[in-house]
Amino acid sequence: MAEFWKKLNFSSFASLRRNGGFVALDIGSSSIKMVETSIDKGGYRVLSLGMLPLPVNAIQNNMVVDAKQVAETIRRLIQENRVKSNQAVSAVPGRAVIMKRIEMPMQEEAELEANIEFEANNVIPERMENVNLDYQVLNAKAGGSKLDVLLVAVKKEIINSYTEAIEEAGLKPAIMDVDYFAMENMYEANYATEAGGGMAGLIHVGSRYTSVTLLHNGLSTFTGDLPIGGDEFSDSLKKELNVSTEAAETLKLTGLLEGKKGFDIEAMLKPTSEYLAEEIRRTVSLYGTVGTEEDDGLKAIYLSGGSAQIPGLRAILEQQMTVPVRLAEPFREFALDRNIDRDFLMEAAPLFAVGAGLSIRRPGDK
Ligand SMILES: Nc1ncnc2c1ncn2[C@@H]1O[C@H](COP(=O)(O)OP(=O)(O)OP(=O)(O)O)[C@@H](O)[C@H]1O
Ligand SMILES: [Mg+2]
Repeated sequence: MAEFWKKLNFSSFASLRRNGGFVALDIGSSSIKMVETSIDKGGYRVLSLGMLPLPVNAIQNNMVVDAKQVAETIRRLIQENRVKSNQAVSAVPGRAVIMKRIEMPMQEEAELEANIEFEANNVIPERMENVNLDYQVLNAKAGGSKLDVLLVAVKKEIINSYTEAIEEAGLKPAIMDVDYFAMENMYEANYATEAGGGMAGLIHVGSRYTSVTLLHNGLSTFTGDLPIGGDEFSDSLKKELNVSTEAAETLKLTGLLEGKKGFDIEAMLKPTSEYLAEEIRRTVSLYGTVGTEEDDGLKAIYLSGGSAQIPGLRAILEQQMTVPVRLAEPFREFALDRNIDRDFLMEAAPLFAVGAGLSIRRPGDK
């Protein structure tokens, strides 16, 4: 994985750290997911993890609007889980990021570093002083004459809204990544060894959004977002049964309405699952890879995010996409510390896909 957000690597803060550890925070629209992972010769080990809900208005338009609530929630997650690390690794949502692929003449790293802002100025539709800019070289073929460079820009206003909340919680924002890249990291850590040729799709269904990432030989070739998530499913129940938002959410998660059982949730959610699956299929097919027999075609989909567990969604998506769809296991290749609640992890794992990917990012990673 490339060293994204070099300019946001506040690793000079490292001297102030308590124990040198890093804690990942996936700050989503509906909740914050926390994962603390240690990395050593033996591999990855989950030290702690937790999730706490956020008030509905804390995150709006891809940024933190209620820093107090977000900071308070982070603080609780840290305290309740006895996290000692005080350097945070977090991410902005990919949809808040401007990404452009450009071609540049082959050049040395130092030269590239000096030229990149000038190039970005031509293709990024924002004033350079208002964005944090970073880049990644995608193909540094020896002897080639061109470089494929991915430019990544985020408005400072957006990134600062996250880092300010993290600081208010008493943590150092050591790395700000992009959630798409965290998903790739999660995939690489858990599935890279079993991936054959062709493409893998990562579909992450949250509460307000669904992100779609296509990887070819482990490298991302497409990323996009759909403005559809778990809220759509709750809304459909709310309308169908004429109940409150809270009652619909509870029914979706537990199958209980005012304490009563007997609802066929899967059937009630089916139209929304079909709609989401169709939108995913459309997004992927715009990229031209659905159902191709060729070696380059889509081979498998990994489904994650809190809404990955909507009853019936996985099967419907599999039908639409005509490739195997598996629930992602973000900690498949991670050892678990003794204090980790395994039952909770088994149930909630797909929710931690971004958090797992972030938890293994360190300053200076390539
Ligand atoms: N077991 C479950 N079955 C069905 N839906 C679930 C389950 N657990 C959580 N969800 C739903 O998943 C959503 C939360 O997922 P997640 O935490 O990935 O989203 P988020 O990161 O807060 O939001 P976003 O990424 O869209 O900003 C909510 O809509 C919630 O109702
Ligand atoms: Mg999310």
